[in-house]
Amino acid sequence: METIKIALLGFGTVGSGVYEIIRSHQERLRTLLGKNVEIVGVLINDKTKERHIDKDILVTTDIEQIFEIPDVEVVIEAIVGVEPGFTYLSKAIDKGYHIITANKELFAHKGQQLKQKAADRGVRISYEASVAGGIPIIGTLRQLLQVNSVVQIEAILNGTSNFILSEIRGEEISFEHALQSAQQNGFAEADPSNDIDGHDAFYKIVILFELLFGRQPKWELIRRKGIRNIRLNHIRLAESFGFRIKHVASLSYENGSVEINVEPNVVPEDHPLYSVEGVDNAVVLTGDLIGELKLQGPGAGKLPTGSAIIEDLVNIFNAEKQHRLVKDIDLKAGTANEFQTWFVIGNAVDPFDGLTLFENSINDQGKFVTARLIEATEGQVKQLLNKNSDLVIYPFAGKPSQPIKKAFVSA
Ligand code: HSE
Repeated sequence: METIKIALLGFGTVGSGVYEIIRSHQERLRTLLGKNVEIVGVLINDKTKERHIDKDILVTTDIEQIFEIPDVEVVIEAIVGVEPGFTYLSKAIDKGYHIITANKELFAHKGQQLKQKAADRGVRISYEASVAGGIPIIGTLRQLLQVNSVVQIEAILNGTSNFILSEIRGEEISFEHALQSAQQNGFAEADPSNDIDGHDAFYKIVILFELLFGRQPKWELIRRKGIRNIRLNHIRLAESFGFRIKHVASLSYENGSVEINVEPNVVPEDHPLYSVEGVDNAVVLTGDLIGELKLQGPGAGKLPTGSAIIEDLVNIFNAEKQHRLVKDIDLKAGTANEFQTWFVIGNAVDPFDGLTLFENSINDQGKFVTARLIEATEGQVKQLLNKNSDLVIYPFAGKPSQPIKKAFVSA
């Protein structure tokens, strides 16, 4: 029986997951592909770490040794950062290898270039694992886009941020304690800024945009905020209305224009992202024909992310369908003149005359703090913030129609 030979770049959480699945699923892969699947080389970063890798496999820190292995057909990349991944994958494509990557930062920056290069060279490039880990969002979108136009995506794409927000709310702890807990659980990196400042979710929504529209968005027009400044009392105030704060990456398409935002939103109980807790990711997408669809599951982790990579591997060797691209779109710089709903924490110098829908207060360590749901344009919100720099304002996702809990909450 023929063998598909694979080179694996990186042996961290994702790389070791791929290694484990290929070993444990030999029979299944043989049935699916009619071939053996074998990892023949592993590129590592640090020789001193202990790893359990079969002694017949070349393990090296030198990429040139990987490229010298004869008859490799696929390179699986699971390292972090744009470089050296981009250089390695460019070279792998030149050599005629198929590519599978889990690297969202690399793919957000260089995905277009790599896709073009792969098309020119006649090899396949797959990246299911780069967005939302084990959730098959890339495959689902490809499938849907054959007949649907996807007009909206609202998603929780960073498990670490979602875990931290769930912990603050559930355990009534500070942001700093919740972050420590995320690090102790191995969700957040030692330097967690990619997660908590919204970069990670930003890269992932950029990748989804490219899949939908076949080109890069203008990065400078995307509003990106992380969860670093969210305090326990913001979450308690939102809860006093029956709402939760979620870090949401959204993309909406209307009349040839697209708007993308990555930021904390206040979501009501009937919003599909309200119940997504812990490290889970979720993607709620709306297609013009299918309507609303929600995918929820593990957005990170060894086996879920490894599973997405192995699905890619199987698809590379089985024919994959082409998808239709929506063209001629514009990226909007926010909806400055449209009325939207906002969740405002704090008191303003000027009253919120004519803007307030509901308001509520909590006693936070002896001091009453008020939150309001207001309807205002983005321009009005900017004016409010200019005059009242202490206000904290979150966009509100969904419609403010549900009954609001009126009871005051005491600390
Ligand atoms: N740091 C990422 C997260 C890992 O927390 O979601 C998966 O991309």
